[in-house]
Amino acid sequence: MSKTIIVSNRLPLQIKLNNDELEITPSVGGLATGMKSVHKDDGGLWIGWSGLTEEELNESLEKKVDKAVAKENCASVNLSQNDIDNYYFGFSNRTLWPLFHYFMEYTEFEKDFWESYKRVNQKFADVVIENLEDGDKVWVHDYQLLLLPQLIKDKRPDVSIGFFLHIPFPSYEIFRTFPWREELLTGMLGSDLIGFHTYDYERHFLSSIKRILRLDVKFNEIIYHDRIVKVDSFPMGIDYKKFHEAAINHTELNTNDKSELQQRLDDHIQASQDTKLILSIDRLDYTKGIPNRIRAFEYFLNKYPEFKEKVRLIMLSVPSRSNVPQYQLLKKETDELVGRINGQFATVSWTPVWYFYRSMPFDNLIDLYTSSDVALITPVRDGMNLVAKEYVATRTKKDGVLILSEMAGASKEMNEALMINPNNFEQIADAIKQALEMPIEEQISRNTILQKRLERYSVEKWAHEFMKSLDATKNLGQVIV
Ligand code: UDP
Ligand code: G6P
Repeated sequence: MSKTIIVSNRLPLQIKLNNDELEITPSVGGLATGMKSVHKDDGGLWIGWSGLTEEELNESLEKKVDKAVAKENCASVNLSQNDIDNYYFGFSNRTLWPLFHYFMEYTEFEKDFWESYKRVNQKFADVVIENLEDGDKVWVHDYQLLLLPQLIKDKRPDVSIGFFLHIPFPSYEIFRTFPWREELLTGMLGSDLIGFHTYDYERHFLSSIKRILRLDVKFNEIIYHDRIVKVDSFPMGIDYKKFHEAAINHTELNTNDKSELQQRLDDHIQASQDTKLILSIDRLDYTKGIPNRIRAFEYFLNKYPEFKEKVRLIMLSVPSRSNVPQYQLLKKETDELVGRINGQFATVSWTPVWYFYRSMPFDNLIDLYTSSDVALITPVRDGMNLVAKEYVATRTKKDGVLILSEMAGASKEMNEALMINPNNFEQIADAIKQALEMPIEEQISRNTILQKRLERYSVEKWAHEFMKSLDATKNLGQVIV
């Protein structure tokens, strides 16, 4: 039976070594959490990096790892420490990530990073080709693997290949600065279908295709040699049912079954019933606008002092890419800002910011989502932002207010949220006030629309639409030249 092979840099599970024992944890990030639900129902194979390096593995450990990932219908690509330094921390996260998120000043164009990126994309191609059987389809994900579609197509022109980019595709004026721009676009064009979260990213990509490769583009079809490559936007959804049902079950928990975190949250809510909770959850990443958020919250407390002791910001920041200097600087800046605002405003019975620097298991995320009156999501640039969608999905009584940056892809489908520009503190402060004072009827009416949309366009539907569109590319036919 034919299968779909999902390929991404990271597998949905991450393995670490603890005294020669494997320690397995779920991966964090929108790609992994979203695709996990799709993979679970599909019976296909997921190829990616296990989290361990070749240097850490010996023969018996490698067997153990293979067995552990095979149990989850996954197969691992072995990466060396050098690959991780140059392909992952280097080219993926010091070149492509900042460039595609419009952080030109953080972008490093290093030849060694690029050489490693090419080598590692070839490693992924080898593992995919090894696992390919007749009739299989391949779905490649994200910026770490932009060259992979062409590497597969060269060897297996018969195979349908889809590619989805989970981050923004920047405007031509940004993309043109990239030294290896032709190679990168050509790599992507090995696909039969290329998907983006929003129409804007799609438009930017097509503009680069026309201006850099000078290819013919008809609507959303690129004529490439004797093939047609289709480009479209597919805004990624969430596993709505999973979040909504978890939230319903959560309301039915007895005190003894509640998590420690939930009990702390309950204590807080009990102690000061008119105090509201504002929540933010993200990886500690400079694209997420974390310093802006803290400063805007400080600005809010100064502008509207009547809210002192009446509101608390709970910030969950998940450690991410901590070998990259900019992430280390951001950690320092965040620690200092939280310290400053807590030092300045705290009273004996009130700390304005509760800051967690760790990742949390699913149940704790549900605790946070369901206990918070407002979600404050302020990225300066974000491909989609699933946290915004997850918050809304868990509001079983349809109360709660989402404040969302217009720079997040999710803003395109979540018009009923309070939209803010993350650089405008005045506007954020006013949005926080508006959210805290919003009449319950208005909250319900906004969330009713949002929930309906999220339920209808779930991650399953998203994957289904993408695969349907990939299948349809078979009928586009060949270009006669
Ligand atoms: N998440 C998680 N554990 C945590 C915090 C967050 O698994 O401790 C998940 C969260 O539920 C969401 C994802 O990480 O599904 C973050 O996705 P998003 O699109 O918001 O941002 P990304 O990290 O992909 O940039
Ligand atoms: C974003 C990217 C993913 C990545 C995730 C976590 O969601 O689009 O490709 O997996 O962040 O980042 P990491 O570098 O830890 O894989």
